[in-house]
Amino acid sequence: MAPSGPVAISVVFYNWRQQEPTDKTLQRCSLSRPRRSAAVGALASWNASAEPCSWEGVMCNRHQRVVALSLPSYRLSGTLSPAIGNLSSLRTLNLSLNGLQGDIPASLGRLRRLGTLDLSCNIFSGELPGNGGARPKFLQYLVLGSNDLTGRIPAELGDTLTRLQELGLDDNSFTGFVPALLGNLTSLQVLQLMINMLEGTLPQELGSNMPRLLFLFISDNNLHGALPSSLYNLSSLQYFDVGNNKLHGSIPADIGEKFPQLEIFLLINNSFSGEIPSSLSNLTDLSDLDLSENGFSGLVPRDLGRLNALRGLNLDHNMLEAGITEGWEFITSLANCNQLQFLDLGGNNFTGQLPISIVNLSRTLQFLYLNDNRISGSIPSNIGNLIGLEGLHLENNYISGVIPESIEKMTNLIVIYLYNNSLSGHIPSSVGNLTKLKTLLAQSNNLE
Ligand SMILES: *[C@@H]1O[C@H](CO)[C@@H](O)[C@H](O)[C@H]1NC(C)=O
Ligand SMILES: *[C@@H]1O[C@H](CO)[C@@H](O)[C@H](O)[C@H]1NC(C)=O
Ligand SMILES: *[C@@H]1O[C@H](CO)[C@@H](O)[C@H](O)[C@H]1NC(C)=O
Ligand SMILES: *[C@@H]1O[C@H](CO)[C@@H](O)[C@H](O)[C@H]1NC(C)=O
Ligand SMILES: *[C@@H]1O[C@H](CO)[C@@H](O)[C@H](O)[C@H]1NC(C)=O
Ligand SMILES: *[C@@H]1O[C@H](CO)[C@@H](O)[C@H](O)[C@H]1NC(C)=O
Ligand SMILES: *[C@@H]1O[C@H](CO)[C@@H](O)[C@H](O)[C@H]1NC(C)=O
Ligand SMILES: *[C@@H]1O[C@H](CO)[C@@H](O)[C@H](O)[C@H]1NC(C)=O
Ligand SMILES: *[C@@H]1O[C@H](CO)[C@@H](O)[C@H](O)[C@H]1NC(C)=O
Ligand SMILES: *[C@@H]1O[C@H](CO)[C@@H](O)[C@H](O)[C@H]1NC(C)=O
Ligand SMILES: *[C@@H]1O[C@H](CO)[C@@H](O)[C@H](O)[C@H]1NC(C)=O
Repeated sequence: MAPSGPVAISVVFYNWRQQEPTDKTLQRCSLSRPRRSAAVGALASWNASAEPCSWEGVMCNRHQRVVALSLPSYRLSGTLSPAIGNLSSLRTLNLSLNGLQGDIPASLGRLRRLGTLDLSCNIFSGELPGNGGARPKFLQYLVLGSNDLTGRIPAELGDTLTRLQELGLDDNSFTGFVPALLGNLTSLQVLQLMINMLEGTLPQELGSNMPRLLFLFISDNNLHGALPSSLYNLSSLQYFDVGNNKLHGSIPADIGEKFPQLEIFLLINNSFSGEIPSSLSNLTDLSDLDLSENGFSGLVPRDLGRLNALRGLNLDHNMLEAGITEGWEFITSLANCNQLQFLDLGGNNFTGQLPISIVNLSRTLQFLYLNDNRISGSIPSNIGNLIGLEGLHLENNYISGVIPESIEKMTNLIVIYLYNNSLSGHIPSSVGNLTKLKTLLAQSNNLE
């Protein structure tokens, strides 16, 4: 047997201090994860006169061996001692949201029973320890997001951690390719690789054997090429985010049959092209669709409003079209989306009259962007129906006519951009009653 847990855990605690968090640790993850303030003086219980199994955050089994060390958000600083590898009964190590730094000790690989390893939101640096034959076989949660880790993602993760359900390597500085062997993580439910410096194309293996994957986050890297067709085999997927890469290709026409449970679909800022398939309207759980800053062309599917749960639709900066005779039908259909909050159609090739049916969009709508198109016609007189609107962006179009009086009903407005159009008449004096209004830009029109 290895030396007793309590002796090793004293060594682990030895160099830790509890201190006010630095700016760096405060910023890190403070938005995405709940912060608890540490119990004042929690470290006071970690002293030689008390039995280590009674220390705060330490859990032992009936043989007095440490099975869990869980001290998330305890404002700890210092390094993680390699002595951690001697806690041979450890199942859970959760030190997330602290200020720990230095290497992640390779000795963790000796913890055969470890199921949960969460070191996210710290300042750990260096490369992930190469396996050297040892890796916890039962690991289900490997969560190392938001640290300063560098180097490649070790391919061996894929062949040893067959029970892994969550792999979080996001928000670090990993480089190199996404290893094809990750495709062998057949139990994976959450894969978070976003915000790194990963490059190359995604391997075909990714997705061909991950029937349980729910969350795929690989945005904000330098990935290029087309998405492997195997990704479209991930029929359990709920979140799909590949934004801010250099990916290209088109959305398959049968996407509506591929992801029956998809809620979030984000392709923002890549080089995707082709038409938006009409089958997308069959993904009725979708709440967030962001195809902005790509090269999509053609018409917007006319029955997009079948997406009842839609909250955000961002098609900004593409080459989408609508004209005098067709193309605007989707606006009428979007009136069915009674939770819609954000609609951005700016920077496209929309022409023809601004459809009157826009006044029937949900009152939950907060932001409406139609700017930088070639839209003509007048602002519908009932625009004031959109009483939830906080931002209205119609600038850089060919919109004519007067600014409707009904605007006085939109008491939540903060920003109105109308500049560079052909509006005429007066700015309604009731605008002065919009108490939240901060910015009204209406220059370059024919206003009196
Ligand atoms: C050591 O920890 C025990 C248990 O929390 C506590 O009662 C005792 O006051 C501590 N001793 C010192 C010297 O801090
Ligand atoms: C782990 O235990 C071994 C004895 O089994 C001991 O030699 C070694 O120093 C311990 N490692 C650490 C880092 O405490
Ligand atoms: C670690 O602890 C934090 C805070 O309690 C918790 O939110 C998180 O889910 C835990 N990590 C794992 C992998 O269970
Ligand atoms: C990965 O999975 C493939 C197919 O499922 C299998 O042929 C291969 O041996 C696996 N590789 C390793 C290293 O386990
Ligand atoms: C998708 O899954 C089917 C059935 O499981 C399989 O036959 C096919 O090879 C997979 N396609 C890809 C591209 O992985
Ligand atoms: C778009 O993605 C690239 C990486 O491919 C990134 O450098 C750039 O900052 C992103 N643009 C925006 C507006 O986020
Ligand atoms: C949507 O799904 C239904 C059946 O579930 C199918 O008949 C229809 O063709 C699909 N629509 C599109 C546009 O793919
Ligand atoms: C915009 O649409 C017109 C036809 O309506 C087409 O001639 C033009 O090339 C399109 N422009 C872009 C940038 O797609
Ligand atoms: C707005 O909705 C109402 C009620 O559903 C309907 O009668 C009206 O025709 C719609 N207006 C437009 C312009 O689509
Ligand atoms: C005004 O808007 C039109 C239509 O979008 C655009 O072509 C033109 O460049 C804009 N003018 C300026 C000065 O931005
Ligand atoms: C502004 O609101 C006040 C009080 O509700 C009302 O009496 C006044 O007529 C309004 N002014 C305009 C220009 O609508």
